[in-house]
Amino acid sequence: MTTVDCDYLVIGSGLAGLMSAIRLSSHGRVTVAMKCGLYDGNTDRAQGGIACVTDPEDSVESHVRDTLETGNGLCDERVVRAIVEAAPDRIRELESLGVHFDRRNGDRDSYDLGREAGHSRRRVLHVGDLTGHEIMQALTARARDLPGVTFLPHHMAIDLVTTGWLGRPGPNRCIGAYFLDRTRNEIKAIRATHTVLATGGAGKVYLYTSNPDLATGDGMAMAHRAGLPIKNMEFVQFHPTCLYHPEAKSFLISEAVRGEGGELINSAGEAFAKKYDERGSLAPRDVVARAIDQEMKTRGDRCVYLDITHKSEDFIAGRFPHIHATCRAYGVDMAKEPIPVVPAAHYCCGGVEAEIDGHTALEGLWVCGETACTGMHGANRLASNSLLEALVCAGNMAERLGALPGGRDREKIEIPAWRSGHAVPSDEAVVVEHNWNEVRTCMWDYVGIVRTNKRLERAKRRLVNLRQEIRQYYRDYLVTADMLELRNIAEVGELIVRSAMARKESRGLHYTLDYPESDSRHTPQETRMVDTPGDNTPLW
Ligand code: SIN
Repeated sequence: MTTVDCDYLVIGSGLAGLMSAIRLSSHGRVTVAMKCGLYDGNTDRAQGGIACVTDPEDSVESHVRDTLETGNGLCDERVVRAIVEAAPDRIRELESLGVHFDRRNGDRDSYDLGREAGHSRRRVLHVGDLTGHEIMQALTARARDLPGVTFLPHHMAIDLVTTGWLGRPGPNRCIGAYFLDRTRNEIKAIRATHTVLATGGAGKVYLYTSNPDLATGDGMAMAHRAGLPIKNMEFVQFHPTCLYHPEAKSFLISEAVRGEGGELINSAGEAFAKKYDERGSLAPRDVVARAIDQEMKTRGDRCVYLDITHKSEDFIAGRFPHIHATCRAYGVDMAKEPIPVVPAAHYCCGGVEAEIDGHTALEGLWVCGETACTGMHGANRLASNSLLEALVCAGNMAERLGALPGGRDREKIEIPAWRSGHAVPSDEAVVVEHNWNEVRTCMWDYVGIVRTNKRLERAKRRLVNLRQEIRQYYRDYLVTADMLELRNIAEVGELIVRSAMARKESRGLHYTLDYPESDSRHTPQETRMVDTPGDNTPLW
């Protein structure tokens, strides 16, 4: 088995991963391992932008307040304030790396700020509706130029390697991870003094999602198998407006469209959002997604519509070039007709318990971006706060790691060769495919926007059985990327269900008909799942 050595192993190549790699490269050798190509992740798809206080009329206080209100009492105010305060400096850093945010009428001194739900004013820096893509281009260009950074595309992480799992005495420590090198179909180890999990979210746990195919919760599942606490997983954000089209794979229609006056209407052409909340189509996402769900159920409709036809075609094509062109490619001209939309799973507010600098309970393991739960988002994330959190936390982490004594002199612990036991190549890919669909359908039907005890219990029973089957399959057959992802979505799905069952109230993104009110007396402030490591034993 090949073992690659580095000082810092970064798993994932979105904003959190690339920013970590760029910053860490001045402290040592960095290997960035990603399971697909560089541009296949969620950051590249981010349309809305990054929330940051830049307008002299705006204030840190106001951004903090909006974040706390949207988070429904579960944000950590200290974390929110630190991230919001750090934002302007980190935005300047992004600009110095080559990101050019849109300016108002070409004026160099004032940004063209977008408005999104939950923000009391325009605050979102953007590059048209291709903000994430612009960021990815700038950061990859920079990271590729750095001699200390090596990229390993098509390397799918299987599990973290810890000294505890190797049976070594002393405090448990992460020393790297096993990977499936998909280009050669072989298993490798990457050994590192510090490992950074920046693998993004887990939208693919649900049948309908705005996320790309790779969002299978790998980092959360691996950290859970290594015994780390996983927090607040019941808070899955459903984005209210994804394109409803059989071939569009839930293409996102940015909230910024509603920010520019787009109105939600039903099949009878009635603007319905104000019936549910006085803030109408720009109420926070949990409220709007539930309103759409209710409207579709009441009327027996398969979608609702987003109408921005009151704006000129020039405005729409200029402000939303990507959405405009994509809708047209699917036969919808948003300048002339309302866009058919449905909610879809979008963002995990929960994740691996981590501090604002990525520090975790396991020495040598750091987590940032959507994989982490820092306390920034609470029970519901404020729009465009996620790129901000990833940016700030990755920078903080690099600063903290850079200040630690170098790890090069540390004893190099041998990572045992991967052994497959009696596993054989699978001749039953159909089983993986079937179970993939079953996990995702079960999560969509029973653990979606509106939950009940009964539905959660049903989901739990199914997932427990499926996970047993998947475990057996993992033992019997040689690993494939599909199988590894299935193992991860099933594990993360079960964490979401268990967390949802533990919360005996409705709050933010977790809404249950059995406990429709918020009730802080009978429910934990946070749900925290921590299980004994066990499922990460390779086969020998
Ligand atoms: C959007 O553009 O609507 C997504 C922004 C976000 O999720 O923060």
